[in-house]
Amino acid sequence: MSRTVLITGGARRVGAAIARRLAEEGWEVVIHYNHSRDDAEKLSRELQDSFSDREFPLLQCDLSNIDAVLSLFNRLPDSIQGIDALINNASTFNSGKIVETSPSFMKKEMAINFDAPFFLIQAFANTFGKGAVVNMLDTKIVKNEGGHAAYLLAKKALAELTHMGALDFAPDIRINGVAPGPVLPPPRKGNDYLKDVVEKTPLKKQVAVEDIAFSVSFLLNNPSVTGQIIFCDSGSHLL
Ligand SMILES: NC(=O)c1ccc[n+]([C@@H]2O[C@H](COP(=O)([O-])OP(=O)(O)OC[C@H]3O[C@@H](n4cnc5c(N)ncnc54)[C@H](OP(=O)(O)O)[C@@H]3O)[C@@H](O)[C@H]2O)c1
Repeated sequence: MSRTVLITGGARRVGAAIARRLAEEGWEVVIHYNHSRDDAEKLSRELQDSFSDREFPLLQCDLSNIDAVLSLFNRLPDSIQGIDALINNASTFNSGKIVETSPSFMKKEMAINFDAPFFLIQAFANTFGKGAVVNMLDTKIVKNEGGHAAYLLAKKALAELTHMGALDFAPDIRINGVAPGPVLPPPRKGNDYLKDVVEKTPLKKQVAVEDIAFSVSFLLNNPSVTGQIIFCDSGSHLL
């Protein structure tokens, strides 16, 4: 029987690359989305065409709504019997220094980047009791640049939750993280946005979405690894 993974924010960009990789490896993929319904449907059709023995259902949810987060696993399509792995990939990336951060802005950034993954892990444990989780982090969790203060603090907290949760939920659930470097420019920014950043990485290489998906696959498939964070970042965390 195939294993089933739920990928939050799985319709586009990095999430879609993870979906493609895991589908190739034999997983059934539940594609969560918020606004990107067209992309989600297109990806589901693409995967269905390639792997007709499996299902690639969609699940819509605004993860900034905490009640919807807590009940997400109760709203799975009937065809899905259970979830073996959860990829906390959905994110917002909004700029703002500490001095500019209002309470409502902080609340929004924390809601999607920390609260949703936290309560999805809790709900995953309570509903399914075993499996694996991968949290999508950011190479900058080891730095203290303040330009995206709320975002980065949320990702730092999520990295700590990766360690704490790995211990708390062992031996039944493994929790790991992937910390990407420059993969894709933020939505609505051109590739020039990344040029300088890429040039400054030790490997001088933009990280391919496939390399991120490869890291996620490694963490899902290695039963002896938990509480680990893979920096898939062309070496940025070393600087
Ligand atoms: N791109 C990079 O270079 C880079 C670098 C470092 C870390 N990362 C991390 O890697 C992961 C993937 O990166 P990405 O650039 O592909 O992410 P992204 O495009 O910025 O966001 C992924 C998805 O998150 C979903 N999302 C946002 N707000 C939501 C909400 N309120 N409810 C539900 N879903 C919501 C969106 O879904 P809809 O489109 O359906 O609304 C979006 O497509 C993220 O966790 C990011 O922080 C990426």
